[in-house]
Amino acid sequence: MKKKIQTPRSHQNSQHLKRQSSDPLDGDVEINHIIERVLSRRAFIGGSAAFGVAAMVGSGVPGLEARSLAGNALTFQAVAANSADSVTVPAGYSWDVLMSWGDELWSKSQPLDEQSGGTGASQELSVGDNNDGMYLFSHQGRSILALNNEYANRPTLFGNRDASRPQTLDDVRKGMAAHGVTICEISQSQHKKSGKWSIVKDSPFNRRITATTPMQITGPAAGHDLMKTKADPSGTRSLGTWANCANGQTPWHTYLTCEENFNGYFTRSDLTRDIPEVLQRYGIGARDWGYNWASSDERFDVSEHPFEPNRVGYVVEIDPLDPKSTPKKRTALGRFKHENAELVINGDGRVVVYMGDDERGEFLYRFVSDGKFIEGGDNRDLLDSGQLYAAKFHDDLRGEWLALTPQTTGMASQALICIHTRQAASAVGATTMDRPESIAANLATAEVYCALTNNKHRGKKPNRGGDDMPVGGPNPRAQNKYGQIVRWRSDEGDHTRPGFDWQLFVLAGNPTVHTDARKGSPNINADNMFNSPDGLKFDQSGTLWIQTDGKTSNKGDFAGMGNNQMLAADAVSGEIRRFLVGPKKCEITGLTWSADRRTMFVGIQHPGERGKSHFPNGGNRVPRSSIIAIKRDDGGLVG
Ligand code: FEO
Ligand code: CA
Ligand code: CA
Repeated sequence: MKKKIQTPRSHQNSQHLKRQSSDPLDGDVEINHIIERVLSRRAFIGGSAAFGVAAMVGSGVPGLEARSLAGNALTFQAVAANSADSVTVPAGYSWDVLMSWGDELWSKSQPLDEQSGGTGASQELSVGDNNDGMYLFSHQGRSILALNNEYANRPTLFGNRDASRPQTLDDVRKGMAAHGVTICEISQSQHKKSGKWSIVKDSPFNRRITATTPMQITGPAAGHDLMKTKADPSGTRSLGTWANCANGQTPWHTYLTCEENFNGYFTRSDLTRDIPEVLQRYGIGARDWGYNWASSDERFDVSEHPFEPNRVGYVVEIDPLDPKSTPKKRTALGRFKHENAELVINGDGRVVVYMGDDERGEFLYRFVSDGKFIEGGDNRDLLDSGQLYAAKFHDDLRGEWLALTPQTTGMASQALICIHTRQAASAVGATTMDRPESIAANLATAEVYCALTNNKHRGKKPNRGGDDMPVGGPNPRAQNKYGQIVRWRSDEGDHTRPGFDWQLFVLAGNPTVHTDARKGSPNINADNMFNSPDGLKFDQSGTLWIQTDGKTSNKGDFAGMGNNQMLAADAVSGEIRRFLVGPKKCEITGLTWSADRRTMFVGIQHPGERGKSHFPNGGNRVPRSSIIAIKRDDGGLVG
């Protein structure tokens, strides 16, 4: 098994490997041929016979009706790219701040001391840092926001420390509390003009889940020997969730938070012992990324506790309406650097979850539950039992889901597959992708979209497991700087079927700088260009929203693109229009709506990361990750 994983393979378009030695995008005949094919009438949006007449299916989500596939014209006036330290939205729209890192959740919370970044105690009672995925739940007329806090901006969280590194036990406590999930009720003022949203302090729903909150481990891997540690000989109880990137939600009103870059928190105290290969595949190294958690909590020392990393890297299900509930790590959905978890209810009631592993050359996954969703029934543990698959894309615009089973992978048990999921997908020859970020399912059709953010190693070197990353299929450009969005449609509109058709929805690029494949697909122009698509979400009107996490130099390859941004796309015509530009050095993360769809909430993560910003308060204030609320001035729908 081990040997098989290490051996580079060339199952994908091996003929394209020939071109690796040449300059990747120098007008090479072969790459141009691939681009032409991928962008050809059938392969690309615009002449999309395979998709444009896609069979109508029920949305599968209770309360949502199937809709026609008529184009959803984008009605707002496009926003120009810019490098301002503020948020820009179209004429006729306004924004204000809903909440920022460090805002108080309870009356007993302390206001944030911006210079020090607060203390462990203050952070445990306030909004976490670096807001990412989120979802606003409606419950008996109340609005409960579940919000990921992906990581910590060390220069602001430890603004009073040299080199922005935690130095004391309380610093580490603060760092752990800045991570995880914030759950809080929000409400809108009844004032006719402002209608401002804000946190409901002391709401019974308010809760912080951090890197120390007790978790239950469920599914096939629960109790496996590789999940057992000194502190938890049962292998079923762990502490905390961290690196919570994007999210998902279920029709049984729970929140799914996705553990992504979990590796950056582990340290090795014994440098004489090598890191086991199974941990190297997940990026566990000798040192953490500056958080210093191992200094006060030995479970982050992999020399002492080599199985602790096996207990993170999952999708965690949280009941936001029960503040006393224990979050559950759903191991059946696999262990990798989970971006988000896009859940659909298939026509037959089975639950299907699409998931991406955000690392160069890692894979796209699908989970299909054994049980069926029953509205009003006991759906609590549907995510504990089912089949995991990895995607293989063929050049003829067909694809297949490869089941990850002991038989197909050669691995001893389903539990092992759920722990060493990357190795399992390598073993079956899944397609190495250009960093799968968010996945979004069209609510009206069986189409699913995935942002492939970029991949500088495409066509150049293998992934961490030794799998080749040839140019081809949905990853058609070598040393891919700009990223693309691929979409697929399951055969017969059935999300559980093995086969699917696929297309590229957009190749991002810069047509003002390049004339080759780097100019992007035909639906990219000087007015809507962007790089590194990341967050994706469909709203209820059928618009696809695209959020970026890319280069913001506004120079060279990225000239004219400005700051990170959010665009809207018409899924039928392929038209893309820029809706929002964020402040300096931020990433746009997270998107959700009020129940009446008259407010859209958008995340502004790490303004000023590696650069100056004073967002959102201006002056000389410390930049703070924030959620903004966007409304139309005429009170109309925004999604
Ligand atoms: Fe946390 Fe892949 O973004
Ligand atoms: Ca992301
Ligand atoms: Ca990203």
